[in-house]
Amino acid sequence: MILPASDPASITACADAIRAGRLVGLPTETVYGLGADASSDAAVAQIFAAKGRPADHPLIVHVSAQGGGLPAVKHFAAQVPPFAQQLMSAFWPGALTLILPRRPGMGTAAAGGQNSIGLRCPAHPAAQAVLRALHDAPDGQEPVWGIAAPSANRFGRVSPTTAAHVDSELGPDLLILDGGPCNLGIESTIIDCTRGAPVLLRPGSISRLQVEQACGQKVLSNEEHLAKHTRGLEAENTPKASGTLESHYAPNAKLRLMDAKALQAAVNMLGDVMYAAGSNTQPTIAVYARTPLKKVPLSILLRRMPEDAAATAHQLFAALRGFDDQGVKLIWVEKPPDTLEWEGVRDRLQRASAPT
Ligand code: TXA
Ligand code: MG
Repeated sequence: MILPASDPASITACADAIRAGRLVGLPTETVYGLGADASSDAAVAQIFAAKGRPADHPLIVHVSAQGGGLPAVKHFAAQVPPFAQQLMSAFWPGALTLILPRRPGMGTAAAGGQNSIGLRCPAHPAAQAVLRALHDAPDGQEPVWGIAAPSANRFGRVSPTTAAHVDSELGPDLLILDGGPCNLGIESTIIDCTRGAPVLLRPGSISRLQVEQACGQKVLSNEEHLAKHTRGLEAENTPKASGTLESHYAPNAKLRLMDAKALQAAVNMLGDVMYAAGSNTQPTIAVYARTPLKKVPLSILLRRMPEDAAATAHQLFAALRGFDDQGVKLIWVEKPPDTLEWEGVRDRLQRASAPT
């Protein structure tokens, strides 16, 4: 069931459902989440079951912006290093997840049993309204301190950026709060704050450069950090992060990344074949490119990729779902530029193109 976020009764209904241990589809500024009470292991178990996600993959816990997020952070986290505090003040509420040492006994199932916990204070007003309602519990009731919410899609598939996406994959019995299409469109940037220095686990709309500027420290990627500090030892202790699995965010169609030149060559070759075979009514190939292409056969589904990274992130997952809905078998995508602001989009496209 889809409820409009503009109606205060919808907020109450979602908060009540979460307090009662049920699942809710929740809008955030990045992607829609599949939320449950982060402190209830039974409620969290339902998330893993609904997604078909292995139970040792930790989930992100969303917290209220009240008090700058600090009261909730102190509830779940054992310790907050100074650079993490700087990141909280710079980017919360917003699309930044911090991995912090976990207080024993708090959010155990949500953390997938790790001794750390991922915390994020979302900026979407509807998500904050639900979090506030849960935090300000009625008299005599314990507050609900956080909502565990991975992206509201089946494990390994493309994340949802509209309520309709969630409904098509996890409905119709799921309560879904419709807060409109997500502004950012790709999942939050994840910074591991448990290793003494910030480590980038997942790039997102908040760039590595912005994180470095906010905390005054160099931010290494997980691979860079491991290469520098260990000889594979730590790799075994590094939590499995489903967002860091090679094949993830995958549409049903096979996705291939090519530079503009290779893409034009492939289109040319295809044009010749299609011309010889006569016109084809059902498009089987989609092309998603920034560079204008010449001589694109009509039977290719062509979509222009925006010139800037933020606009591309905003539409990326919906575009991939759209191609799937139109039944294409192949998606040819022009490689995004190799700059920091495109890091999040590049990451999602690389994963979507990894063999399953
Ligand atoms: O933008 C987002 O972050 C979205 C929206 C709904 O807020 N949520 C999201 O959650 O992407 P999820 O569960 O799909 O992705 C969580 C990522 C995974 O890669 C997970 O492994 C990592 O965060 N993560 C969570 N807790 C962790 C922990 N304790 N240690 C390491 N990685 C963790
Ligand atoms: Mg996900």
